[in-house]
Amino acid sequence: MRPLIVGNWKMNTMRSEATALVAGLMEQRAELDPGCDLLVCPPFVILRPVADIIEGSPIALGAQDCHTDNSGAHTGDVSAGMLADAGCEFVIVGHSERRADHREDDVLVVSKAGAAHASGLQAIICVGETLDQRNAEETLSVVEGHLLSSVPDGATAENTVVAYEPIWAIGTGLTPTIEQISEVHDHIRALLVARFADGNEFRLLYGGSMNPGNAREILAVKNVNGGLVGGASLNVKDFWSICASV
Ligand code: PGA
Repeated sequence: MRPLIVGNWKMNTMRSEATALVAGLMEQRAELDPGCDLLVCPPFVILRPVADIIEGSPIALGAQDCHTDNSGAHTGDVSAGMLADAGCEFVIVGHSERRADHREDDVLVVSKAGAAHASGLQAIICVGETLDQRNAEETLSVVEGHLLSSVPDGATAENTVVAYEPIWAIGTGLTPTIEQISEVHDHIRALLVARFADGNEFRLLYGGSMNPGNAREILAVKNVNGGLVGGASLNVKDFWSICASV
């Protein structure tokens, strides 16, 4: 399957920085197909300016969150339908920063993923353990719990991507060992295969301090089908280098 590299810009980039960043990626992509699909997930207010630039190009657009309802009295929220209307094909749901900052739990995340599907978006559903859970050897059971409760029954390889993001690796420069990444991804694959007819086809991303120095080794792991990149996605050279290591 064709890998997917995602740039999760988080709450970064003013409009001018965002447009320069995506223009830089467009230039690289015009010269070379790195052999993977490329997706950028800017903040809500930057979606349209970025959509205008990447229109017709092989770079896809995604958002970082959506509401469970498609419209209504939800001050400050944005629906999956609005994201699709703005040009998005993907939305990240259940990122650990949403789970922590906004007290999102699996019940909410599974509902957001369902809303994404209903609007024709692919949901990138994030799962992962804290350092305490890793040290207590609870990683596989925590990931299993997230996976069972955050991935809706209607998920297919066409509408869902699963991202394994150990919380302690996000933005810290720390990463699990290759063996640890491999163990978790194999476990996720087995759970998806047991639950979904096309469980073998879901793309499984690794996220957490992925950078040009470690991407090649991580992306070579069986059952790692791409990356969810935060910090390193804000720099054209670094992000492109990760894409090129596919
Ligand atoms: P990071 O973030 O690459 O900065 O660790 C990854 C993520 O949170 O998606």
